[in-house]
Amino acid sequence: MAKFHRDTLNLVPFVSVDNMMKLILHIGVDEVMAGIAKAIEEDFVRWELFDKTPRVASHSNEGVIELMPTSDGEVYGFKYVNGHPKNTKDGMQTVTAFGLLADVANGYPVLLSEMTILTALRTAAMSAVAAKYLAPKNAKTMAIIGNGAQCEFQALAFKKICGIENVRLYDTDPKATEKAMFNLQNSGLNLTSCSTGEDCVAGAEIITTCTADKQYATILTDNMVGSGMHINAIGGDCPGKTELHKDILYRSEIFTEFTPQTRIEGEIQQLPDDYEVTELWEVMSGQKEGRKAEGQITLFDSVGFAVEDFSALRFIYQAIQGTQFYEDLDMLADPDDPRDLYGMVQRAAKQNMTAAE
Ligand SMILES: NC(=O)c1ccc[n+]([C@@H]2O[C@H](COP(=O)([O-])OP(=O)(O)OC[C@H]3O[C@@H](n4cnc5c(N)ncnc54)[C@H](O)[C@@H]3O)[C@@H](O)[C@H]2O)c1
Repeated sequence: MAKFHRDTLNLVPFVSVDNMMKLILHIGVDEVMAGIAKAIEEDFVRWELFDKTPRVASHSNEGVIELMPTSDGEVYGFKYVNGHPKNTKDGMQTVTAFGLLADVANGYPVLLSEMTILTALRTAAMSAVAAKYLAPKNAKTMAIIGNGAQCEFQALAFKKICGIENVRLYDTDPKATEKAMFNLQNSGLNLTSCSTGEDCVAGAEIITTCTADKQYATILTDNMVGSGMHINAIGGDCPGKTELHKDILYRSEIFTEFTPQTRIEGEIQQLPDDYEVTELWEVMSGQKEGRKAEGQITLFDSVGFAVEDFSALRFIYQAIQGTQFYEDLDMLADPDDPRDLYGMVQRAAKQNMTAAE
């Protein structure tokens, strides 16, 4: 990442939802997806450099609010994110987020960004990168169970990064499937709307589960998963919130992001603490094998880890340079004499009085 240069220390570039949408449309969804995927791969290969800790979660009956910090020693980043499955009934998002990057050398923030849209992009990019290493070669068909906010992003990422051509869609709420069919109609993907989960997975080489329910759910039963399939399980991402029947886990080779966090939040919370899994960075850096055999079932037990958000923010920081897709936020107090913070407040009060006279 380029050394941070700032003429005005108090101003922090802020990417609003409006500017994020404009930036994505300006670059193109496919290119943004590819750019974030590339940033994720670069950061996973230098995994050992990063500060890593399971995210700090505050649970309630309705959902969870989480902070996700990390640093590579030069740049620090964090994301604030919530997960409230019942929100959609009240017209609100299940997941909303914002995040920040800061310069480790002086601690000053250098970017503040919306991350609701960016989280959907990075989750999809991460899923597709994992599938690139794990899914059967030449897979062409993906089933997506759960057609909410994440769904279209997943479909587009798998098309761009893994060459998926056919997407089969199923949701317990047919309106969600209709919405996804409509949004993806000009995507170049062949779409099929399905009326059951069993119908949805028929003929698919990859299954993505992205449902939201704050409970142990069984979106996939053992009989729905045939040999050689790749499962991209993204909706089981909280204690007490899973999507797969336990028997599927015992038949699969399981891959994680940061295992200590996945043991708390992922599908593997259903398994003993010492159950063997492989971290994706080990596969990406060539230290361990991904898919070993055609008939193997591979499972990406996705929960979403701080390094992926760091990668996505890093991509956005670079993408906005020299563009109009951000505004400067007067976010940091910057007195002429660094120790005269109170004097700066007093001078502002005087200026306000003079202005009012
Ligand atoms: N792993 C990650 O990195 C990551 C990132 C973002 C979101 N998530 C998780 O992904 C999930 C989906 O997120 P979203 O923003 O799309 O949520 P959303 O609420 O917008 O969509 C969820 C969809 O799942 C459907 N659904 C619920 N139960 C179902 C069932 N039994 N069978 C079929 N469909 C069912 C709902 O009708 C809804 O359309 C959430 O659980 C969220 O926490 C994970």
